[in-house]
Amino acid sequence: MKLFNKKSFLNRLGLICLGLSLSFFVHAETLKLGHVTPEAHLWHKIAQKIDENLQANTNGEMNVAISPLSKIGDEGQMIQMMQAGSLHLGIFTLAEVANREASLQGWVLPFLFDTLDEAVAATQNEAARAMLAKLDNNGMVGVEYAFAGMRHIISGNAITEPTDLNNKKIRTYPSGVFKDWWNAVNAAPTAMPLSEVAQSLTTNLLDAVDIDLDALVSMKFYQQAPYLALTNHYTFPAVIVISKKYFDGLDESKKEVLVKAIRDGAEWGYKEIIVADERNLQTAIDDGATVTEIDLSSFKEAAEAVTQKYVKQDSLIADFYEQVQQAK
Ligand code: BEZ
Repeated sequence: MKLFNKKSFLNRLGLICLGLSLSFFVHAETLKLGHVTPEAHLWHKIAQKIDENLQANTNGEMNVAISPLSKIGDEGQMIQMMQAGSLHLGIFTLAEVANREASLQGWVLPFLFDTLDEAVAATQNEAARAMLAKLDNNGMVGVEYAFAGMRHIISGNAITEPTDLNNKKIRTYPSGVFKDWWNAVNAAPTAMPLSEVAQSLTTNLLDAVDIDLDALVSMKFYQQAPYLALTNHYTFPAVIVISKKYFDGLDESKKEVLVKAIRDGAEWGYKEIIVADERNLQTAIDDGATVTEIDLSSFKEAAEAVTQKYVKQDSLIADFYEQVQQAK
């Protein structure tokens, strides 16, 4: 007996294929990730790596939708979304997260690191892991860090000695070590979102910017402020976090696969930033930035008092400082 004619067989086959692809879409889970940088910035590329890793390790059952450039809200709002579980993943500046977990300020103690390699190595020390673990208290699971390079100074007029910064308005973050550090070198720290910096340099609302090379190149601030003093005064990491509310509801195998996707993405970023920092410097120079030499000895003297203040104030910062020194 003939069960199927050719047409009905093809119809059934079509239905099976449709069913399979529908079940793929029904089961695929999209996690939302927010961050503040443009798509050309390394943090966005790390987010893309996390998405690739997650898709590869789950046969496409989980993926990541990335919202760059604060499109879904500023970092404060994104952190609230994470606490509510409506945003799953985030790459947030240390500056913002340190307002909630003060020990993270250990990362920006001025002149703590001589090189980016030292900073990358420090991500795995005990104190750095303890800082991430403390983010639990703020509704986030801290998994890894991401770097954007060492910070330097870009300015409209050349800075060749630290006194050139006296009373100059320098864009930075408005709190903690950032504020203390720029006050210690007699500059006038000025808070401003990254998105307003270019315009403020043009209108002289700002004289200078505390910036890393990745942000510098991706936002081309040397078009408004051509002088680049390579101070290497600190590095400026981000933390890569998962919403605790979302994470706590996952089964163990999903937790593992998600954490691994982030760790592997971060690992890629740690290697990439070392190469990118050199490439970004060359790009900035080729694009018109003028590098100025600056004697850093008085900067380093001023750094000491700021470092001691924070080391005395927070035992985890003290541990971090100690562990970084021991690894040198
Ligand atoms: C900044 O605000 O300076 C910044 C933010 C994200 C990445 C790099 C720099």
